[in-house]
Amino acid sequence: MFGYAMVSPFDVLGIDVDADDDEIRRAYRERVKEVHPDQGGSLEEFQLVRRAYGTLQRGDRNGDGSADPATVDLRDDDDGVHTTRVEFLDYEVVDDYGWSLSDPELFEKAAAADLADTDYGRLLVEPTETLLEAAEGRGFTWPFSCRGGACANCAVYLAEGELSQPANTILPDELAERGFRLSCNGYPATDRLQIVFNLKGLPELDDLMLPPGPFRRAHSD
Ligand code: FES
Repeated sequence: MFGYAMVSPFDVLGIDVDADDDEIRRAYRERVKEVHPDQGGSLEEFQLVRRAYGTLQRGDRNGDGSADPATVDLRDDDDGVHTTRVEFLDYEVVDDYGWSLSDPELFEKAAAADLADTDYGRLLVEPTETLLEAAEGRGFTWPFSCRGGACANCAVYLAEGELSQPANTILPDELAERGFRLSCNGYPATDRLQIVFNLKGLPELDDLMLPPGPFRRAHSD
């Protein structure tokens, strides 16, 4: 299917072989924006970038555990990188309990709190699904409005992992830096994610939200 099977994860991310962890992470975040399926990138390319990052993150800089030149085997799809395990939590619960998004124990607290299945739980996301699509496909009703990156109704907070985001979304860089992403066009870009959804009570996002439901221009009356 591919004209080449083994490539260097460093080449995929466009970095030197001696790049440190920060450089790898920065390069990855730029690359997943460029190859994001909503930006015209193919899912294969997106997965390749994701796979390259996963390889380097695991500290397996040679891709196959050997000391040979660094490579990523595109044919090997048995290592779980294609399906992502998501642990989710409703922000309303965070608010009700007086918890904080930045609390490193947030998900441990949620796990111990005997919450409803719709408030806290796990789901799997296939590589062809955005996070919102996966949640809906598993029967959950998460907020959204435009489904096109133009509001923040579908925003989630990333406590762990990476959710890819096309470059031209409404979220300011500052919020993206702090871990906010959009679920309607975000594809999981790591094997595991911990996310808080339903952020409508969060003041930082208030101005960016639209009325729920089909997208309508503000001030159209
Ligand atoms: S629903 Fe509007 S950006 Fe996702």
